[in-house]
Amino acid sequence: MNEVPVHPRRRTRGTARLLAGGALAVVTVVASAAVATLAHADLPGPPGTTLKAAAERSGRYFGAAMGRDRLNDQGFLTIANREFDMMTAVNEMKPDATEPSRGQFSFAAGDAIYNWAVQHGMRLRGHTLAWHAQQPRFWSSLSGSALRQAMIDHINGVMAHYKGKLAYWDVVNEAFAENGSRRNSNLQATGNDWIEAAFRAARAADPSVKLCYNDYNIENWTYAKTQGVYNMIRDFKSRGVPIDCVGLQTHFTGGSSLPGNFQTTLSSFAALGVDVALTEADVTNASASQYQGLTQACMNVPRCVGITTWGIRDSDSWRGSENPLLFDRNSNPKAAYSAVLNALNAASTTVPGTTTPPSTPTSPPPSTPPVTPQPGACTATYRTTSSWDGGFQGEVTVANNGSAPLSGWTVSLTLAGGQSLVNVWNGVNTGTSGTVTVRNAAYNGALGAGASTSFGFVAGGSSGTAPGSISCTSP
Ligand code: G3I
Repeated sequence: MNEVPVHPRRRTRGTARLLAGGALAVVTVVASAAVATLAHADLPGPPGTTLKAAAERSGRYFGAAMGRDRLNDQGFLTIANREFDMMTAVNEMKPDATEPSRGQFSFAAGDAIYNWAVQHGMRLRGHTLAWHAQQPRFWSSLSGSALRQAMIDHINGVMAHYKGKLAYWDVVNEAFAENGSRRNSNLQATGNDWIEAAFRAARAADPSVKLCYNDYNIENWTYAKTQGVYNMIRDFKSRGVPIDCVGLQTHFTGGSSLPGNFQTTLSSFAALGVDVALTEADVTNASASQYQGLTQACMNVPRCVGITTWGIRDSDSWRGSENPLLFDRNSNPKAAYSAVLNALNAASTTVPGTTTPPSTPTSPPPSTPPVTPQPGACTATYRTTSSWDGGFQGEVTVANNGSAPLSGWTVSLTLAGGQSLVNVWNGVNTGTSGTVTVRNAAYNGALGAGASTSFGFVAGGSSGTAPGSISCTSP
């Protein structure tokens, strides 16, 4: 892929306004009981007939990117609402858009996308906080420690606004060169530790959101750039620098195509202890076999949590002339759409542990001491992360408070009358109203002693009542 052009400075008007959402409701219930061993192959229900339904069967998401102008495009909104459960703002949460002048934050455009997405049952990936492109104009007159501080201030300001609201943040975007070294940029000139500083600031600003490094041309395991990013993630994990995920943009256009070792790349990153996601997928002429292959690779890697396409219809694409997306200009799904849908639904045949091992294993497999769960080891803690007229978004933290590892978990919770689940992520639900159960997804069932994970959901119906009778069981 060619280098992403630096974009002319955006002018953003308006002042910050409050996001939907209110006080957090917290309920903690501890329970113990034995349940049957969970099997990922045992997925509920018939095949999904939409991208999101098919992805949700294995606890994954299917996302798209949109600009604010698409909020006036009913054709786009109809497909977005029907097919997708994750949204990324194309430009509206980037540094130039959110902090046009120092300390003057502007969230109107990002919030407009956020509010529409959440009100339609979606979660959001934040994109992006620190990047060599689309920087605030005032960064160009800064260098050294002053620029470093401006970056930290930016992270703090933007993340404070979206605190507790987003599923992921692309904290740093595209910081590597094709030869595997760091890309030359004004941020790199502030010192090699600028990426680490950005992630540490991000964790402190919002401990609830998953922090990602995002880049393109890191899909081929043998590329120098892939190895450069991999070595950085490995270094971060070994030193305790906070990082939760790697986004592989997956732009198979402009000469690059699906590499045969893509799954190896995904599983190698995942083996470092991070989630992986395909964050900006598009493919020249929407090759069905390439879309099938990239989707299959993700489904084969338990920690591949979801796929996002960079737009919905070809007319939404930054490379529209290549017709790279799943829907044509008349909103019709292409052959690639069916290929992706089928691959998502086929995830039910994927069993953790059967994926291709990394070609360069770098850490020993986690030890698996005998499992002797104690009563009460599994706990479930609920909070409402946002609410609006007619719905709310909830998050359940599942913790292993015992001294033995758990190999899976199931949470039971009771929704109030009139409430029903719209979608669930990082877990697989049975039932949508009344008492429902949510069990672990393929990638977050194993919890070491003291470890925790979380799943989330959007529910429609009355927004004021938190679910009751929450309990957690583990095999
Ligand atoms: O909004 C102005 C408009 O007022 C003006 O008339 C027009 C004239 O060119 O420009 C418009 O701004 C454009 C903006 O997109 C909104 O459409 C910019 O020129 C254009 O450079 C900008 O491109 C964006 C690009 O990032 C900039 O780096 C693309 O929309 C966006 O899709 C793209 O996204 C990136 C990801 O962030 C990172 N990975 C690669 C991906 C594709 O390049």
